[in-house]
Amino acid sequence: MIPELSNPSVCMKDPQRVQEILQSMVKAGSNTVQVISDFDMTLTRFAYKGKRCPTCHNILDNSKLISNDCKAQLKELLDTYYPIEIDTARPIEEKLPLMVQWWTKAHEILVQQKIRKDLLATAVQESEAMLREGYQLLFDHLHEHSIPLLIFSAGIGDILEEVIRQAGVFHSNVKVFSNYMDFDESGVLKAFKGELIHIYNKREGALLNTGHFQELRTRPNVLLLGDSLGDLTMADGVQDMENILKIGFLNDKVEERKQSYLDSYDIVLVQDETLEVPNAVLLYLTGNK
Ligand code: TMP
Ligand code: MG
Repeated sequence: MIPELSNPSVCMKDPQRVQEILQSMVKAGSNTVQVISDFDMTLTRFAYKGKRCPTCHNILDNSKLISNDCKAQLKELLDTYYPIEIDTARPIEEKLPLMVQWWTKAHEILVQQKIRKDLLATAVQESEAMLREGYQLLFDHLHEHSIPLLIFSAGIGDILEEVIRQAGVFHSNVKVFSNYMDFDESGVLKAFKGELIHIYNKREGALLNTGHFQELRTRPNVLLLGDSLGDLTMADGVQDMENILKIGFLNDKVEERKQSYLDSYDIVLVQDETLEVPNAVLLYLTGNK
């Protein structure tokens, strides 16, 4: 057993099953593994010293790139829709159209702000975005072992790329599926590109990217990292999947949501701001432990 699986933050409904998946994956070898991870509140911290950390959208919301009026509108959207996002009493079918509303309204507001591409890096630099402790090991180890990392995010691709670039870990094995900004010829935001990715349509997003999963067809063993129940469908495009180990961060509303997380994630990390457990799993899978 991996010692970190006894950490106080770790909860598992079926530890025996976790053990079986791990053994099966280690036997298949790390050259059959791919990692699929959500970004906001999975690779980034949920809170630091008692204060909430920003999502990709919040990095812009809090930046100098948008007006105070716009900030107030985005805050109102957050206050309205975030409680719905994490409400366990509502079924996903009921939440889905509301999440589409949130993303659509937020993107409309952002587009009105004439955000300049060349100022995004500064907005990220000046933000309080923080990758979880242990990120360096995660990114570097995956790179060293040539294990592909797909970051699948309903956040903003341009922003999250900048976060990992500034952290020095945007290695060649990293691929991103997200909402990307579309700029006009003078470098001003005019729209968002392609199909919208929101918190509950990652399955559709995965199925639009069959080429990526086709390339990775020799890697049928998946390590999935997420923090929302919507993240569970990120691997739906994986071809001929053999094993999947799902690790979920339960950041907020712990008591209300714990049972549903235990029912759907193999390993649930309760208010754990580090990547210690995913890293231990990874080291185990690559024979470094
Ligand atoms: P994720 O799939 O990478 O975790 O990104 C989705 C998160 O972004 C989700 O938790 C909600 C959050 N969000 C904001 O914080 N502000 C916004 O305006 C929108 C549309 C989403
Ligand atoms: Mg998330």
